[in-house]
Amino acid sequence: MNVNDSEKAASLLEKEGYVQTSEVEKADLIIVNTCSVRDKAEQKVHSLLGRLRRLKNGENTAIIGVMGCLAQQWGKGFFKRCPHINFVCGTHNIHRIPSLVKEAQLRKKYIEAVNFNGHVPSLDLCVPASKGKISSYVTIMQGCNNFCSYCIVPYVRGREESRPSGDIIREVQRLTEKGVQEIILLGQNVNSYGQTLEEETGFPELLGKIRDLHSVNRIRFTTSHPKDFSDDLINSFAEIDELCEHIHLPVQSGCNEVLEKMRRRYTVEEYLAKVERLRSICPDISITSDVIVGFPGEEEKYFQKTIDLVKKVRFDNIFSFKYSDRPGVASQRFSDKIPEDMKNKRLALLQDIQAKLTLEKNRAQEGKTEQVLVEGTSKGSDADIMGRTRGNRIVNFKGSSRLIGKTVQVKILRGYAHSLRGEMI
Ligand code: 5AD
Ligand code: SF4
Repeated sequence: MNVNDSEKAASLLEKEGYVQTSEVEKADLIIVNTCSVRDKAEQKVHSLLGRLRRLKNGENTAIIGVMGCLAQQWGKGFFKRCPHINFVCGTHNIHRIPSLVKEAQLRKKYIEAVNFNGHVPSLDLCVPASKGKISSYVTIMQGCNNFCSYCIVPYVRGREESRPSGDIIREVQRLTEKGVQEIILLGQNVNSYGQTLEEETGFPELLGKIRDLHSVNRIRFTTSHPKDFSDDLINSFAEIDELCEHIHLPVQSGCNEVLEKMRRRYTVEEYLAKVERLRSICPDISITSDVIVGFPGEEEKYFQKTIDLVKKVRFDNIFSFKYSDRPGVASQRFSDKIPEDMKNKRLALLQDIQAKLTLEKNRAQEGKTEQVLVEGTSKGSDADIMGRTRGNRIVNFKGSSRLIGKTVQVKILRGYAHSLRGEMI
């Protein structure tokens, strides 16, 4: 979602004549897009802003802005801590970035735009299909009403708002006309898409409407909440050929006591039943997840249940995080916090187990023939190109860069920890 927001901001500024540079010292305008979902992300922003302060201490007169969740959370606080910042732009105000920049240039004083509007104007912003773009995000909703007890998102992104399906379809159409092959539908909880709309389009219907365009090669979506992951949506994996066989379904914990304190509103048993149904409809689906370790009150036996679940589901991969307190969320006030060294140990153990599972899963691809959408040249070698399987695995193989943007058949020769090696057929 943040990448998508950065693209929106960049496209608004390009319309004003700005061009992007990768050399920060040469920039006239620097905008830091921020995430505040975990403490570590927040620390990264502060160290980057520290580096920019040193840059501005010299001759540099660049305008510096901060956007995103941390901007929303801190508002005025940013200026007190970082007086070298010229403006702060919250999550509902991306559309105002060009005018904020102009104002900052004219008034040379700190400006902030962090008000929440009933309607989120930036939801209507579309990302341009730049030449050669193969894959594009399309925002279908923003905000979240779930208030999981550890999560800051509902506070910094506001209440859930879905975008009318007609606008989404038009954006997808425009992107595919420009050659985009893959559409990734974005939202904090795409499964509850449509609840704020007058029209009766739920998420499975939206997927059907996109399929009916017959112009999209691949459809993906993120993120799903297990509690809203319906049978209709599971059936979509059988009914919509364009829907890729990959689902990111954050479980967070394998222990019902912890899930309840997290306010996730599903049980381990319900989660497992959904996974089973998904696999019965689509046996090769790749399933990834998010897991938090060291949530307040997570006893050793509770953590062990998470390990058991990870081994039972055999996820293709997981993103795992140490719990961190976020300001204002419910779990910040929970008393039984887990010591940092314990969290570190649990995270290392979990990651070790998952690394082995991921390697096993990648090895199990050997000998299969996969449809691969070529995305670019490989990092490791100029002679190789890379792309993704429908299950979202990265494959490197010998081939010409002329194949970028094309879908080719690749035989998988070898599975590694983070990618596959293949041979084009
Ligand atoms: N501490 C640790 N991880 C968190 N996440 C969200 N909030 C926190 C927190 N306070 C993780 C969840 C979520 C992912 C985007 O970030 O796993 O799915
Ligand atoms: Fe946060 Fe829960 Fe909403 Fe996901 S569903 S954004 S974890 S509150």
